[in-house]
Amino acid sequence: MSKIVAATYNLHKLEEYRKLLAGQELEILSLNDCPGYEEPEENGSSFEENANLKALAAANYCDLPAFADDSGLEVEALNNAPGIYSARYAENDPARIDRILKELAGKENRRARFVCVISVAFNGEIVGSFRGEIYGTIIEKPRGINGFGYDPVFMPDGFDKTFAELAPAEKNKISHRAKAVEKVIEFVEDEMSILDNELGTF
Ligand code: IMP
Repeated sequence: MSKIVAATYNLHKLEEYRKLLAGQELEILSLNDCPGYEEPEENGSSFEENANLKALAAANYCDLPAFADDSGLEVEALNNAPGIYSARYAENDPARIDRILKELAGKENRRARFVCVISVAFNGEIVGSFRGEIYGTIIEKPRGINGFGYDPVFMPDGFDKTFAELAPAEKNKISHRAKAVEKVIEFVEDEMSILDNELGTF
């Protein structure tokens, strides 16, 4: 079976990826399986650049195909902030939400989208980069306890619940991450024979 490294230490993310890719002939490793690895600085200027540099660094270090993701929230009225700085917008999740709500106070336009980009690296190059997006609005006050990050203030289009009010399985059907993963699966299914031929099995 071919191996691929998910460039994360986050066991929740790893579990999610293992479930999403369960039908593939792939053994999914994580950075915990690559002792001594040091994560590169996320100094890209787009989700794509950050996902690319994380995937390439992991693939090169581990000498295996690897994929990495980068994600965040873009708020239209804030010139798409926090964007790639979503995780660094304030100290913790409640403070990050608070900052967004303050910055949006008095603004009519509350449109926003979550973005997730997953890049796949192999043999020293990026072989694919896949983007998932979900559009919605930022509500006035946090609602719900599920999920993480900005979920309590993000209401996806077509729903009257925030991401934090949806059951995790419901969110995982429609989320930016799920959409990017769907594209990765299509790619992996198409390219699997190429990976097998070039690499053999490990
Ligand atoms: P990273 O891709 O793990 O670096 O996450 C970037 C940041 O974007 C997270 O720390 C969250 O603040 C935000 N974010 C990304 N995806 C989601 C999501 O599905 N719900 C809520 N916040 C998210």
